[in-house]
Amino acid sequence: MPIPNDIPVAQRINSPARSATHPFVRSLKALPWWVYILAIVAFFLPMVGMHFMSGRSDSRNANSQKSTAIAPANSSSDRDPGIDPTTGRSSEQIFGHLAYAETPLSSLRVISRASDGYEIRLKEPAAKAFLQMAAVARTNGIELVPISGFRTVDEQKKLFFDISKQRNQTPAQRAMVSAPPGYSEHHTGYAIDIGDGSAPSSNLSPDFDKTEAFRWLESNAAQFGFELSFPKNNPQGVSYEPWHWRYVGDSESLATFYKNQPQSQTSSRR
Ligand code: DAL
Ligand code: ZN
Repeated sequence: MPIPNDIPVAQRINSPARSATHPFVRSLKALPWWVYILAIVAFFLPMVGMHFMSGRSDSRNANSQKSTAIAPANSSSDRDPGIDPTTGRSSEQIFGHLAYAETPLSSLRVISRASDGYEIRLKEPAAKAFLQMAAVARTNGIELVPISGFRTVDEQKKLFFDISKQRNQTPAQRAMVSAPPGYSEHHTGYAIDIGDGSAPSSNLSPDFDKTEAFRWLESNAAQFGFELSFPKNNPQGVSYEPWHWRYVGDSESLATFYKNQPQSQTSSRR
């Protein structure tokens, strides 16, 4: 008679295999506890490192995104559009007048006071050169009288628009004899309108070129770094202004008026 098999079939098939301990498992069980800790740390360490590395590069990207996002906004909003910050001039034109930035007030020096107390100011190097020039002219019996120096854009606005109305001039007519606001050489602090103390009736008139002061300037002004801005037939097409002179006697003033000027704009001034 067969011996009853009181062990269920299922257990007979599976239990022996399940209960048997694999040699590898047995060897693991033999390891001390700290080996497990080391293994866990070794497993997670690369993941933790990757996390921090990606975090840092994200913040670098965020910073660079910030700087690329901010830079154009700054560069377009902090300055007058079109004006080169190094020269204070733009190639933009209106009726032949070039755009100029208003020079900082701190760069100006008073060279004279009008009878109503209005201060006539020029940028420091131009002021110094003009005062030297006027002193030398005086020794030659010539009185060079400053009529107008630096002007703000607001002052130029009044000069341009108020006088256009008084004289019933269109902007194009007015621009023949006066620069629109933002486009006057007087904003730079390098330009000066000069009169002859012995011929005040010629002030700001083409007849100024008949005065002794004008003749003296023609012969001597370049020694002091001054030149006539708008001679007859000037390339900008601005009216002849024998009274309006500008300082070009140092690198900054030279760049203001000549840097990146097309050759055609400068050749007639040789
Ligand atoms: N008077 C000249 C045109 C100027 O203001 O620039
Ligand atoms: Zn002028």
